[in-house]
Amino acid sequence: MAILEVKNVGKRFGGLQALSDVNLSVAENSVHAIIGPNGAGKSTLLNCLVGKLIPDTGSVMFDGQSVLGRKPYEINQMGISRVFQTPEIFGDLSVQENMMIPCFAKRDGAFQMNALTAMSSQRDVIEKAEEMLVEMKLADKRHMHAASMSRGDKRRLEIAMCLSQDPRLLLLDEPTAGMARADTNNTIDLLKQIKDERDITIAIIEHDMHVVFSLAERITVLAQGTPLVEDTPDNIKGHPKVREAYLGESQDAA
Ligand SMILES: Nc1ncnc2c1ncn2[C@@H]1O[C@H](COP(=O)(O)OP(=O)(O)OP(=O)(O)O)[C@@H](O)[C@H]1O
Ligand SMILES: [Mg+2]
Repeated sequence: MAILEVKNVGKRFGGLQALSDVNLSVAENSVHAIIGPNGAGKSTLLNCLVGKLIPDTGSVMFDGQSVLGRKPYEINQMGISRVFQTPEIFGDLSVQENMMIPCFAKRDGAFQMNALTAMSSQRDVIEKAEEMLVEMKLADKRHMHAASMSRGDKRRLEIAMCLSQDPRLLLLDEPTAGMARADTNNTIDLLKQIKDERDITIAIIEHDMHVVFSLAERITVLAQGTPLVEDTPDNIKGHPKVREAYLGESQDAA
């Protein structure tokens, strides 16, 4: 059964048709990768799923309900959490303080910027944050400034912040971009563990084919704003349309 159904989605930026007629069906409890060359529209599509952008046409249904017209925090409360392409943690805050923010939002319904001092007295928020830090192997870094963490640990923290919301769908936009190979492999292991231990669906945008083929059960190839092909990893490897999509790029998708 599909937990996410995207139908005929289009999005235009001025003279640029960034997405046209995008159809995507993500099966519940699967890992679905969306790949494609730079500028293909992957992040634009993700932004349409989480209320950051409103598509010009089409529908986006999550678990049978439309996400369109809802605010990002409402979509979050429906069960969708996302890690954007650019890390969104607060560098000046500690790892623990960052972790407390979504725990607070989960309990009280909406994120408030002035919540940090208020929440410090809230035992349940502190306990939930600590639980997540331990689970995500970040407990020994709890007092570190988030800005001074490695790229891999920043991503791990962001994923932990998402998971504290108990999402049913986790969206990841290039979670391993700019990472050293060891951090990338740790992220792959982390996502496998999350998948094994939780009732969760993961949709991942990724350029690194090692990550894609290590995790994905289905792959959609997007090029110039339109899905070219959707298939299993085995069938995607060496698929002529994938080669076509990446033609002219240094990346070897097959
Ligand atoms: N807010 C915006 N305003 C105008 N153009 C935009 C905007 N956001 C994206 N675009 C353009 O839309 C196209 C798709 O961009 P998008 O960021 O979705 O690509 P992408 O597949 O995520 O690429 P990458 O792999 O480099 O992250 C690009 O040509 C981009 O320049
Ligand atoms: Mg992108």
